[in-house]
Amino acid sequence: MRKPLVAGNWKMNGSTESINKLVKGIRSGMDSVKNAGIIVCPPYVYIPAVVELLASSGIAIGAQNVAKEQLGAFTGEVSACMLKDIGCQFVIVGHSERRALFGDTNAFAAQKFAAIQQGGLTPIFCVGESLEERDTGKTEAVVQAQLEAVVELLGVAALDQSVIAYEPVWAIGTGKTASPEQAQEVHAFIRGWIAKQDKALADKIQILYGGSVKAANAKELFSQPDIDGGLIGGASLDADEFLNICKAAG
Ligand code: PGA
Repeated sequence: MRKPLVAGNWKMNGSTESINKLVKGIRSGMDSVKNAGIIVCPPYVYIPAVVELLASSGIAIGAQNVAKEQLGAFTGEVSACMLKDIGCQFVIVGHSERRALFGDTNAFAAQKFAAIQQGGLTPIFCVGESLEERDTGKTEAVVQAQLEAVVELLGVAALDQSVIAYEPVWAIGTGKTASPEQAQEVHAFIRGWIAKQDKALADKIQILYGGSVKAANAKELFSQPDIDGGLIGGASLDADEFLNICKAAG
């Protein structure tokens, strides 16, 4: 039985004031969330404050990006061992915004995936197709190539200490959610692809759906057999909305 998991990706949003309010709101509503793991991923600079505000709350902290190196002359970069040092447990990697805007190719995302695990953290590895790729029937090939980059570099066993997030690019921040059936189809494909290499790992790995998840559509998505929770962008910036999504997962 896989434990449901909900991760909030705050992206480049918030201020000291708004993040304080958001975190206090989430923390105060936590009692109503049963049986779901929760992660929040603030921008780097707010991580220490959020770690403090969420101390012994059971909510884990993730980062949104990482360097592929651990230490050295890499101006402006932040490493996995530093993130671990300040209290992070997870890092989002391969997000479509980083793939599209910051040069995170399949190979680069795989190297970051390795760096996250070397630093003692768990990758939340994002995969997903663009609308054009979906319309031309390439969804499975695109997702498979994204997964393959990691498996070729590290072996399938590396997926054991990771979470996968299927996020169709056309559904991110657009208000257009994949239907539960569309999402389930790809989740089943991902699990099946892993199962061909390691059945036990495939049964165990959490695969989250991301892309315009809201409290209103969360329950239906999360009730699909291969959807184990969500990676939430916009709706994770509202404490009540986020808590309702977490409740739908639990
Ligand atoms: P969204 O973003 O929920 O705002 O669509 C999801 C994501 O980018 O992880």
